[in-house]
Amino acid sequence: MHRTILITAATGQVSSALIEELDRTDRQLRVLVRDPSKARSLGARGVEVYTGDLGDPFSLAPALEGVSDLWLLTPNGPRAPEHSTNALWAARRAGIERVVRMSAVGAAHDAATRSGRLHALSDHELQQSGMCWTILRPHWFMQNLLGAADEVAATGKLHLNMGNGRLGMIDVRDIATLAAYVLTDHPDRHHGQIYTPTGPRAISFAEVANQLRQTIGNDVTYTLVTDQAAAANMLNRGIPDWTVGMLIEYAQAYASGWGDFVTTDFHDITGRPPRSFAAFARDHAHAFTPRSEPNDAAAAAYGQFAGDPAPDSDRAPEHPGAELEQQTGDAALRDCHAPAD
Ligand SMILES: NC(=O)c1ccc[n+]([C@@H]2O[C@H](COP(=O)([O-])OP(=O)(O)OC[C@H]3O[C@@H](n4cnc5c(N)ncnc54)[C@H](OP(=O)(O)O)[C@@H]3O)[C@@H](O)[C@H]2O)c1
Repeated sequence: MHRTILITAATGQVSSALIEELDRTDRQLRVLVRDPSKARSLGARGVEVYTGDLGDPFSLAPALEGVSDLWLLTPNGPRAPEHSTNALWAARRAGIERVVRMSAVGAAHDAATRSGRLHALSDHELQQSGMCWTILRPHWFMQNLLGAADEVAATGKLHLNMGNGRLGMIDVRDIATLAAYVLTDHPDRHHGQIYTPTGPRAISFAEVANQLRQTIGNDVTYTLVTDQAAAANMLNRGIPDWTVGMLIEYAQAYASGWGDFVTTDFHDITGRPPRSFAAFARDHAHAFTPRSEPNDAAAAAYGQFAGDPAPDSDRAPEHPGAELEQQTGDAALRDCHAPAD
């Protein structure tokens, strides 16, 4: 049967990588974007482009008509559950067969982060939706480090408030590969599954800095900073209050050892190991390498960290890894082919 996949957040980093993966398959691809001018190149490649806003439920129906599979990624923010419920309601009304949802590592009603708790609400709603569902809860993205690349290139320093925590961080390209496997496989095979893809090894930010140093051939050091200094720096760079608070919560959780685990989910489904941090560093070396012209703006932006190191963290690890062994959410399993009520 000819299947059409609708991809939300199509201009974002995960969905963009997913489109590249799915472009190699026989599926008809359709994207939902707020601004169609951002999807011109996709349109030129034969991808169907629909305009809609996850915050506006009335804008979603046309994009979902005739779609069999929905890739649902909601942007981070306080309105994430609203965006998700709008999409799920429109999907039910359109008779969508399967939804594959991008959630986040450790999503739970009692998660230590506001993002984890909001994701849990939307995970739960999908589990009760009557549609086939699969939930991906990836670990911390290696690509988050690209936000610090200018600083590393300009100063040789990686200032973070992540303590000595080790993270089973994953390359976004592997999340896309896993999502593409699920979206192109038979819906029954992954219905009711929650996958927590991680990288191959949990590593600390001292190891991250060491790997970057080896890759780019310049000194890179990881310097602990306080939550207050990190928050001030983010606010200074224009990051919204809510997001800063969320990132501080994640940093506190990771510093306590919450992210110190890996799973075999990626390998189990795709049959290959996930990318290592060394591979990520190699593929993005240019971003971390000092420019021939000094980047004074980047150096100044991070200059405030000078002299503000945080004490080493020795908080006891309490990580969610033990609960993350391919959770199935059995209680919420229903016949996903039955029409939603
Ligand atoms: N970063 C991590 O380490 C991590 C780890 C696990 C899970 N996650 C989860 O990953 C998700 C973020 O993925 P990402 O980094 O790929 O996202 P991203 O790059 O920040 O992109 C966000 C996307 O959402 C779109 N968007 C924003 N508001 C919208 C609206 N009202 N209606 C429709 N589309 C809208 C944006 O489109 P425009 O072009 O129109 O702005 C953009 O395409 C979040 O749910 C987060 O919790 C993140």
